Amino acid sequence: MQGRGKVFYRACGIRPGVDRGTRLGAKLLMLDVLESTSQTLRELAQDGEPEGTVVVAEEQRAGHGRLGRGWASPKGGLWFSVLLRPQVAPADAQKLTLMAGVAVALALRKHLGLEARLKWPNDVLVSGKKLCGILAESRSNEKLEYVILGIGMNANFLVSALPEELRQSAITVREVLRRTVDRLALMRAILNELDAGYGAFCAGDKGEIVARWKELSETLGRKVRVETGTGIVEGVAEDVDARGALVVRTPDGAVTVDSGDCVHLR
Ligand code: BTN
Repeated sequence: MQGRGKVFYRACGIRPGVDRGTRLGAKLLMLDVLESTSQTLRELAQDGEPEGTVVVAEEQRAGHGRLGRGWASPKGGLWFSVLLRPQVAPADAQKLTLMAGVAVALALRKHLGLEARLKWPNDVLVSGKKLCGILAESRSNEKLEYVILGIGMNANFLVSALPEELRQSAITVREVLRRTVDRLALMRAILNELDAGYGAFCAGDKGEIVARWKELSETLGRKVRVETGTGIVEGVAEDVDARGALVVRTPDGAVTVDSGDCVHLR
């Protein structure tokens, strides 16, 4: 593991205690400062680390998000990554992002009573603002080798700790609840939901994942603008198909978008 050394094993603000029953999080590496929990876990995965290992850091110096963007990760957040090794075709991995979004939203609802909703493809919103981002990164040859599920939750800090350009669109748990929360308990709640969702995914229950995602969606029915690799698609978000792609009704007909940057217009 790059940067392995005593400094990374200092006690951090998140203490052990993940449920023993769950497959995910049975092995938990808690570190003080890392470049990125996903980067560290990728290095471990390449060395044969088993499914379910979780890396969590108090602070990331080079956290990354979707579309090659950076991910601001100040102290007080909940920054962690989970290693999955699903026995599915590489094309099926996209649905893991939706599964993770559902799991995080359910954990926030059940554990903290927050009205969490989902923005396609993988943002968790509260009051229309981004509370959590999810990034699934996979490695495959002919078959899928592993997926690193990175979860970045704005937890116990104020948005003033984020770069200025993010402050309008972001929100933190501390701001919504007007108090700090036990991040380990929140992570445990997320891992429990992920464990259930991942179990259903591995059992082939993929239609159910899309159905649950739609129930929690903030995107469907909204006017959206999606920047894709090949251009801009603007219209009303009409559906999410069985693969997890967004179907947008434009003046020229329905357009299916596999990936892109989606903005809610109204
Ligand atoms: C997004 O762009 O919305 C996804 C953000 C994912 C951030 C998390 S924080 C933990 C893990 N480590 C990273 O470097 N990224 C993910």
